[in-house]
Amino acid sequence: MRTFPILVSFDGKPPLVTGGGELAAVKARLLLKRAPTVDIAADRVVPEIAALVEAGQVSLIRARPGIDQLRGRPLVIAATEDDEEDSRVSAIARALGVPVNVPDRPELCTFALPAIVDRGEVIVAIGTSGASPVLAQRLRAWLEQELHPRLDALAKLAAEFRGPVAERLPSGPPRRKFWEAVFEGAAAEAMLEGDEDRARALIGAAIEAAAARPEARGRVLLVGAGPGDPELLTMKAVRALKAADVILYDRLVGEGVLDHARREAELIPVGKAKGAHSVPQEEINALLIARAKAGQTVVRLKGGDPFIFGRGGEELDALRAAGISIEIVPGVTAGIAAAASLQIPLTHRDVSHTVTFLSGHEAGGEEPSFEHLDLAALASGKNTLLVYMGVTTAGHIAAKLIASGFRPDLPVLAVENASCEDERRVLATIAELAAHPERLALKSPAVLIFGEVAGLPTSGLVEDILALEELKRA
Ligand SMILES: C[S@@+](CC[C@H](N)C(=O)[O-])C[C@H]1O[C@@H](n2cnc3c(N)ncnc32)[C@H](O)[C@@H]1O
Repeated sequence: MRTFPILVSFDGKPPLVTGGGELAAVKARLLLKRAPTVDIAADRVVPEIAALVEAGQVSLIRARPGIDQLRGRPLVIAATEDDEEDSRVSAIARALGVPVNVPDRPELCTFALPAIVDRGEVIVAIGTSGASPVLAQRLRAWLEQELHPRLDALAKLAAEFRGPVAERLPSGPPRRKFWEAVFEGAAAEAMLEGDEDRARALIGAAIEAAAARPEARGRVLLVGAGPGDPELLTMKAVRALKAADVILYDRLVGEGVLDHARREAELIPVGKAKGAHSVPQEEINALLIARAKAGQTVVRLKGGDPFIFGRGGEELDALRAAGISIEIVPGVTAGIAAAASLQIPLTHRDVSHTVTFLSGHEAGGEEPSFEHLDLAALASGKNTLLVYMGVTTAGHIAAKLIASGFRPDLPVLAVENASCEDERRVLATIAELAAHPERLALKSPAVLIFGEVAGLPTSGLVEDILALEELKRA
């Protein structure tokens, strides 16, 4: 059953359980965790249900309920354990559009009962679309441990201050930011620790401070999205994504990274996609400034680290010139992720004492001249070159290194889609790369790691590496 989670209100008619046996008692008990009362349709009931009737939590109605007894219910659970009767109840409920569940008969259900973590006002429902109730229970146990037992008190406190906050702060970003600060700050901490007076005083003071502040100004966060794997996002980056009103993102931002954005956030792609042009840098700068001036929290999300070949410097200059408040959130750059994936240290006390980050092409797109570099000095050994954007110029670069004195059998590793599921690694020597760059069949995005460290991979990873010798034989 494909499902979508919603939270059903029990404020109107009570939910109905059909059946008076043990199964019906279990279901009634479950519903009573959230419903003030439950109706049970049965002629005879087990003692547990009788006790609930006695306590005023359950009302008995006649067995074999008809259309009138089912109409208008928030939900019905058919638990008579009599297949024919459960099917009959399910058919009536479905005809009336009343959500119905029949335990262990998914074909008769229009909703599934989730595993629940109950913190009063805060409730978490876990479903696996029927795939694995055991997995749902395990997740529930984990969440029970992770979620603070006093979350309910925190939610009640927020409800208490909803009105005063709405009166004093304009709706939209100012109000949302106020609440984000409350939940991340000392007031929430005090409430969770049980110091309710302090929590109330802190929120009261925060409302006064926020109301007295001149109209909130927007800001821009330049955020590194890492090399692709969302697990490599920093916690700060995740927080920035959650706080953003608008996110301008590059093509190389990995799948799953944007899942951390708020549902209401506006997502604007500005990177170059296949067959389409990227938004010119000046337009991106203008958009960042305009949105921040309109009071929005703007995230400029860039693959890897924003300041490694990401034109982050240009955006920074434009934002500073416009007087916009800026924050930088660093990210894991592709070269570092590639080295980590291959388990090679970029510096190594025996073979590499420096690391140089290089672009594989000039600003205009042509082959790199490396004029600004003393390649001959680097050729002496003991260093690592990390080349970005060098897929089409790899052969040219390798030839240039040899001409500058690098030894021809120096290893070079190319890593495509580092950290992603389709990561691919190729090992060669720079002589082989210079002579037959096409044999590596490299595709963008890839980084090239030139240096002795590229020859260090552990044997466990060598199987993953396609040596050029093998390519030649193929
Ligand atoms: C415009 S640069 C941006 C670099 C980015 N700011 C960073 O720190 O990784 C784009 C180049 O980064 C490299 N790159 C980005 N993501 C990559 C990945 N997942 N695997 C390999 N190389 C990647 C490629 O060389 C690509 O051509």
